[in-house]
Amino acid sequence: MLTKKFITLGITGGIAAYKAAELASTLNQAGAEVHVIMTRAAQKFIRPVTFQALTGQPVHTAMFTRLTGWRVAHIDLATRSDLIVIVPATANILGKLAHGIADDLLSTTLLAATCPVLLCPAMNTGMYQNPIVQENISRLKELGYYIIEPATGWLACGQEGPGRLPALDLIFNQIKDLLMKTNEVDFQPGRSDWQGLTVMVTAGGTREPLDPIRHISNRSSGKMGYALVRAALSRGARVILISAPTAVSPPAGAKVIWVERTKEMYEQVLTHFSQADVVFKAAAVADYSPRFTANQKIKKKDEVYLLELEKTPDILFELGQRKQLHQILVGFAAETENLEENARRKLAQKNLDLIVANDVTQPGSGFGQDTNIVKIIYPDGKIISLPQMEKTALAHRILDLVLPLRVKK
Ligand code: CTP
Repeated sequence: MLTKKFITLGITGGIAAYKAAELASTLNQAGAEVHVIMTRAAQKFIRPVTFQALTGQPVHTAMFTRLTGWRVAHIDLATRSDLIVIVPATANILGKLAHGIADDLLSTTLLAATCPVLLCPAMNTGMYQNPIVQENISRLKELGYYIIEPATGWLACGQEGPGRLPALDLIFNQIKDLLMKTNEVDFQPGRSDWQGLTVMVTAGGTREPLDPIRHISNRSSGKMGYALVRAALSRGARVILISAPTAVSPPAGAKVIWVERTKEMYEQVLTHFSQADVVFKAAAVADYSPRFTANQKIKKKDEVYLLELEKTPDILFELGQRKQLHQILVGFAAETENLEENARRKLAQKNLDLIVANDVTQPGSGFGQDTNIVKIIYPDGKIISLPQMEKTALAHRILDLVLPLRVKK
C-alpha cells in the first residue's frame, strides 16, 4: 500500500513516544521505507534499538553523521522524504518549528523539508491549552503544516483533558491520505487561488436516534465532502468541516466539528455561517427524525411497529435565506429519478449559487464510491455535465467553477 514511500518518523520527548513504535511497525508492514529521527529527550523514553528492529533501518539521532556521499543527514532525509510525521510532537518541537529554530537533527530536517509534514501533538492539558502553544499551532496550520488535534482523555500525568496522542489508526489513515494526495495528478501544490477564503463543508450522513442502540441514517460515506475539504486546503483556504459520521477519516488541517443529528448540524452550521465565504453542503441530511427517542432499548412486541417522525430543519434553505452578498452556497442533490428537474427545484427553493447533482442509480456515481458522475447546474439554467471522475478530481473542478462566482458577485 505504501510501497516506495519514504517516510521520516520524528519522535520527540513525550511519554507517548512508546506509541510511535507501533506506528513505525505499521508503516513498515504497509511497505514504506521508514527512517526514524529521535531527539535527545525522546531517547530518555524509548531506545533507538526498538525502532531499528521495527523498521530495519538505522535510527538517526545525531546531527553530523554523513549518510550517502557528501550529503549530511538532515538534507538527505529532508530531500528523500515523501512525508515527515512527528509522533508525538511536544510543545518544544512545535515552538521551534513555528519560529524557525533549527538546533538538532529533527528541527533542521523539518526546516529543510518541502514534503507534507504531519504533526501529532501530545502533552499535558495545561501545556496544550497554553496560549503560546495554541498560537504556535495556529501559525503552523497557516504555514501549511498538517496537524491532528490531540484526543481528550486520561493523561499519564494523572489529569484528564485534551493532550492524548490520537488513535494510531487515525494517524495512519492520515498518512495514507497525504501520500495519496501527493500522488494525484490533480493535486496542485503551490496553487493558492483559494488563499484568504474561509470555506465551510458539511459531510457525512446525519443520524437520528430511535433508542440508545438504533438510529435512522443514510448511505453517505463522506468521501465527496472530505475531497472538497482536501482540495480547498491544498489551494490555501481555511476550512471549517462540520461532519456527521463517515466511513473515512477527516483530512488534517481543517477545523473539525463533529455532529450526529440534523439538529446539531443545523446549530453548528448557523453558528459558523458568518465566517464562511463559501459553503459546500455535501452532507446527506436526515429529513425526518423520530418524534420520541426511547431511553431504553425498544423491545419487540407487536407484529407492526409504527414510528412517528417529524421534519428536521432544512439547513441549506435557512442559509439561503440568510446569505449575504459575498457568500456562495453550493448544494448537492443525490437523486434516483428526474435528476435535472429535482436539482433545479432545490437550487431555486434554497436560493443556491450552484447545485451539484448526481444520479445514485448510475454505476460509478453511487454512495461510498471513489468516483462520481455529476451535472453542475447554475441559477440561469446553464448545465455542465461532467464524465465519471475521481471525487478528488471532481472537488478541484467544483472549486474551479465556484471561484469565478465570487468575482462576479
Ligand atoms: N439539506 C439540508 N438540510 C436538510 C436537507 C437537505 O441542508 N434538512 C441540503 C443537503 O445537504 C443538500 C441539499 O440540501 O446540499 C439537497 O439535499 P437533498 O436531501 O437532496 O434534498 P431535500 O431538500 O432533502 O429534498 P428531497 O429529500 O425531497 O429530495
